[in-house]
Amino acid sequence: MTQTGQAAPKKRVAVFISGSGSNLAALIDAARDDDYPVEIALVLSNKADAYGLIRAADAGIQTAFVDHRAYDSREAFEDAITVVLSEQSIDIICLAGFMRILTAGFVSTYEGRMINVHPSLLPDYKGLQTHSRVLEAGERYHGCSVHFVQAELDGGPVILQARIPVLEDDTPDSLAGRVLVQEHRIYPAALSMLGAGAVTFAEPDVVISGRDAPIVITDKDSLSWRDLIHG
Ligand code: GRF
Repeated sequence: MTQTGQAAPKKRVAVFISGSGSNLAALIDAARDDDYPVEIALVLSNKADAYGLIRAADAGIQTAFVDHRAYDSREAFEDAITVVLSEQSIDIICLAGFMRILTAGFVSTYEGRMINVHPSLLPDYKGLQTHSRVLEAGERYHGCSVHFVQAELDGGPVILQARIPVLEDDTPDSLAGRVLVQEHRIYPAALSMLGAGAVTFAEPDVVISGRDAPIVITDKDSLSWRDLIHG
């Protein structure tokens, strides 16, 4: 509440996607709750046919398609994105399967205000094909992480992580499916913490009010964004 008794305006979030947008859907679902501390105000895709754009439109959320192939440099592409973000007064960016590398300049503009979900227990298994690499290495555990974005790919400090056991008969697809379920739990929770000021980026780490960082859960643990931002 503000001093006049009015609820503070919600922070405005842009979700960047390139594909299916199942994490986007989880964020949209969480934000339907009046008490959720941020609003999903914009969904931006570099792919015209990203299914996430349909999910966004169905939910009545503003969408933007910015085709990276129309620009001759990463900076020019990002300048076009920046215009859209500024028009929509965006406070926070969530990367959710956005398949473009962002420049250090763009990342530093949004330092502490841009997060990503990655399908591994960071700092292990940065990059692509995490599920098959985890299986090939014979790991017993796998999972997913939400982290602040820094210039190093998948390199920023972790806010929240979910760990699951690797099963004997897992294939990359079966493992990916179980990890994705956990992504859909931890991403809305981490975003709520950022929106509510319960987590801040304090280079080179994160600071979480009243808890050790990062928060690590298993697939058996319950997770409630309300508890994380009020508890
Ligand atoms: C997820 O596995 C996410 O961790 C990775 O890209 C994938 C996006 O999936 N960064 P979706 O588009 O959210 O379904």
